[in-house]
Amino acid sequence: MNSAPAASGPPVLSPLPATPRTHGCGELRPEHAGQTVILAGWVLRRRDLGALLFFDLRDRGGVVQVVCNQQTQPEVHALAEQLRSEYVVWLEGEVVRRAADTVNPSLATGAIEVVARRLLILNDARTPPFSLDSEAPASEDARLQYRFVDLRRPSMQRNLKLRHDLALAARRYFDAQGFLEIETPFLTRSTPEGARDYLVPSRVRPGEFYALPQSPQLFKQILMIGGCERYFQIVRCFRDEDLRADRQPEFTQIDVEMSFPTLPAIYDLIEGLLEAVFAAAGQTLARPFPRLSWQQAMLGYGSDKPDLRLPAMAELASLLPAAAREQLKLRAGQPVFLIRIPNVGELSRRERDELRPWAEGRPVKVFEDFARLEKSFPEFAASARAAAAAQAGDLLVLVGEPEGGALPAWELARQAGQLRLWLAQRFAARHGAFAAGAFRFCWVTEFPMFEWDAEEKRWNAAHHPFTAPREEDLPHLTSAPEKVYAQAYDVVLNGVELGSGSIRNHRAEAQARVFAALGMNDEEAHRRFGFFLEALRYGTPPHGGIALGLDRLVMILAGENSIREVIAFPKTASAADLMMRAPTPVSPRQLRELGLSLRAEEPRR
Ligand code: AMO
Repeated sequence: MNSAPAASGPPVLSPLPATPRTHGCGELRPEHAGQTVILAGWVLRRRDLGALLFFDLRDRGGVVQVVCNQQTQPEVHALAEQLRSEYVVWLEGEVVRRAADTVNPSLATGAIEVVARRLLILNDARTPPFSLDSEAPASEDARLQYRFVDLRRPSMQRNLKLRHDLALAARRYFDAQGFLEIETPFLTRSTPEGARDYLVPSRVRPGEFYALPQSPQLFKQILMIGGCERYFQIVRCFRDEDLRADRQPEFTQIDVEMSFPTLPAIYDLIEGLLEAVFAAAGQTLARPFPRLSWQQAMLGYGSDKPDLRLPAMAELASLLPAAAREQLKLRAGQPVFLIRIPNVGELSRRERDELRPWAEGRPVKVFEDFARLEKSFPEFAASARAAAAAQAGDLLVLVGEPEGGALPAWELARQAGQLRLWLAQRFAARHGAFAAGAFRFCWVTEFPMFEWDAEEKRWNAAHHPFTAPREEDLPHLTSAPEKVYAQAYDVVLNGVELGSGSIRNHRAEAQARVFAALGMNDEEAHRRFGFFLEALRYGTPPHGGIALGLDRLVMILAGENSIREVIAFPKTASAADLMMRAPTPVSPRQLRELGLSLRAEEPRR
């Protein structure tokens, strides 16, 4: 706001007139010139040029410039002098074309303005804690605390609209495919998805707790037992885990389960869903998505969520002569990876120095000066270039394990994959593959069924314990769990795990064997999942499904880097709601009613 309001004292506030709005602010164009319009919205900014006063009026759909003329409408002009940022106003006026030299090409409505004939202030506003006049960054804490103001920013409005459009497209798609949206409880018991549960104490059963669902996994399987055949749900899930840009304690899944599935049918269903959802955002995508086994993904990209926007790494162990390996002091028998990033070129000395801290302290050897390798080992370098299909102008970096190392091959691949991503991000401006609108999907299949938990010294389910092992691996289930691969699949987009699913154990005996392989004895399996093992015995059809992270999907399509930008009321990294100020202590009475008491030594915040 450029100048203080002329009138002192609070502005006179009017009730909302009965006449409805005729247009949205962002809709007006030169073809509306001459029309009388009724608008309502928030004052974005005001410019007072004496006899002419301009303000920008903003509603959900856009911004338009309003003019108040002291000569022709003195009352309107006087009232407009009281306007401040974020005041809520209603007006009636005439759309006029702007003179050619005052057209604002950066505004969709920049060719016109509205000459106000009636103006009402519906509400005043405190000065916002940050400006809405630009997309200039405000601190995230301030944005979350004053979310009611932050939500007015065009980018937030755009993201919420996109989220709505995508969810609607998903619902329409599933409906057309014969899926039913069925709600499942939030007050339930623990579902093992690998995070901690949020617990809700029961008042009527003191000392007992519900768990909020980490996903509706067991319910959707029971819906299949219940003959529902095709289920989906856009559903909130709750997980008490370490948060980061793509993780919230409560998030939304597009959750799916079907009876009598085949793997191709599931891939096809989900590719169709993503095609429909992307179409709702004006994007087309290439189908079918490439499929990589977990092993191919690990060896080629050093990751189980490969980013296909850049080429795979080449594994060169068989091309590296023993003498060269010795000279480079690389451990015998281990893979050697060549990372290729197109268009980045050789690194300058300064850029190579930047890389050094990355390599230090890691159990790998990095050769970032390929030209030097080329001089010492011209034949190897030539075959390496050919194996990686290298082009002139590519950055080539070799990664191996130093002599004396003890890494498993996949861990070496993972390290090389991390360097590949580091280089890709550091030199994104040069290779350009991360430009907005580049969407590269893939399926990663045949994950290992179990992961070794070194701390607890036991096997954990890599996906979840309801996943079916591959038929051919069943004999190893208890004798050699490391040899068992799962009928599990992830759908990955640009290096982000978008969704994860599996074919399930539909026979009670097979399920019980998986529980046993996880070290659960009969008694524990019955205590935790007895109801489910029982249900499986009542005619369970073969079934399988998947869940996709809606927040992540919207984040990627909106071009954002954090899911907090696409959730109306997200939590901070420490799982706090800064606006509502949750969590909060509760009264001693509430605790008493729940049969709970807090340990005195634990400080209360
Ligand atoms: P999973 O645990 O892999 O599978 O979750 C599926 C998808 O949900 C999203 N996601 C999250 N998004 C935001 N914040 C989080 N904390 C978070 N955790 C997960 C991811 C992930 O790919 N019941 C199984 C699915 C099944 O087997 O059908 C499940 O929940 O995008």
